[in-house]
Amino acid sequence: MIRKALAMTALFALAATAVLAQKVAQTPPMGWNSWNYFAEKVTDKDIRDSADQIADSGMRDAGYVYVNIDDTWEGQRDANGVIQSNSKFPDMKALADYVHSKGLKLGIYSSPGPQTCAGYAGSYGHEEQDAKTWAAWGVDYVKYDLCSYIRIMRNAHPNDPAAQMLMMISAYDKMAKALHATGRPIVLSLCQYGWDAPWEWAPALGGNLWRTTGDINARWDRIYTILSQQEGLQKYAGPDGPYGGHWNDPDMLEVGNGNLSLAENRSHFSMWAMLSAPLLAGNDLPHMKPEIRDILINRDVIAIDQDQLGKQASRVYSEGEVDVWKKQLSGGAVAIAVLNAGSSRYSSHPFHLDLAKLGLHGTQQATDLWTGKPIELKNDMPIELGTHDILLVRIANPK
Ligand code: GLA
Repeated sequence: MIRKALAMTALFALAATAVLAQKVAQTPPMGWNSWNYFAEKVTDKDIRDSADQIADSGMRDAGYVYVNIDDTWEGQRDANGVIQSNSKFPDMKALADYVHSKGLKLGIYSSPGPQTCAGYAGSYGHEEQDAKTWAAWGVDYVKYDLCSYIRIMRNAHPNDPAAQMLMMISAYDKMAKALHATGRPIVLSLCQYGWDAPWEWAPALGGNLWRTTGDINARWDRIYTILSQQEGLQKYAGPDGPYGGHWNDPDMLEVGNGNLSLAENRSHFSMWAMLSAPLLAGNDLPHMKPEIRDILINRDVIAIDQDQLGKQASRVYSEGEVDVWKKQLSGGAVAIAVLNAGSSRYSSHPFHLDLAKLGLHGTQQATDLWTGKPIELKNDMPIELGTHDILLVRIANPK
């Protein structure tokens, strides 16, 4: 209650000075980000190679647009305080031009604190200057990561979490205004790990997406935990805010990373699409296996994510270790996901689908979005799913 009241007070003040900006991200942003695979090793060449792959693998045509450099591109500031890239990134403007020449857009990363999470230069005290520099380079997307600003907040207001929260909101507002003032359409991604319910205040200041949790990693348990934490946030996602779309961000995709099984990769991608989540691939694109590419470019699944209504799915019921999710789509259609989150196969004890619980009456004609084939959904039908596998269907005319 107190948190909500504080957020509202802060927003009231923000609204009074809002700068009108072009609307962006009216569907969840799609692209790729360097962190999940390259982390601090990323170089200019990795970004160019990834842009080439997005263009050549069919990903661009399937909707992936943003090529996002995460942390560790930052160098020193010059005598005038202008941020320079470090030796891994010799010429940011040339890199942006290259990415744009492929029909793609460039994203960058910074922090409201003096240092980023990896210890590189953040934007503290240089917010407007950095926004102008990025716009001049041709940056189209900024991920703004709280990191060392936590220390600034805590030092300014020890033992006063409410005052710390207001400082955090104004730090994000400051960068949002600086970006809007450049006149360039730039997506703003908030990364502060879901602290202080960003879904309540980020859209009003111009946040197009906000992380809802701590960091993802390429392990099923972590992916499933993050998935479960999205329940209850449905009403905050949508296409129609004052600055464009506003989306809950359960973090970037791990599809193709680590030792995730094919079923786990498929389920992870399916569920992020059900959540209307940003689809930011994070794998090694030049060495991507064909079966991973096929997951990432499945247009029927992408269409679930990008549906123009922008309605995030809800978990309707769970039975044992099986979760059943439903997402409302435009034109009256619905998507249903049946996820076996458990580690046993459901062949000996098949799960039986309860259509009534999903608000469906009688047999439904659907399309299985992973086989591409029609499937008839009957009440009480047994569904056999392997470990961590999923059935994802679209019902065009639900009854
Ligand atoms: C934080 C973020 C990650 C990544 C790293 C970079 O941990 O949550 O997504 O950007 O910082 O240092």
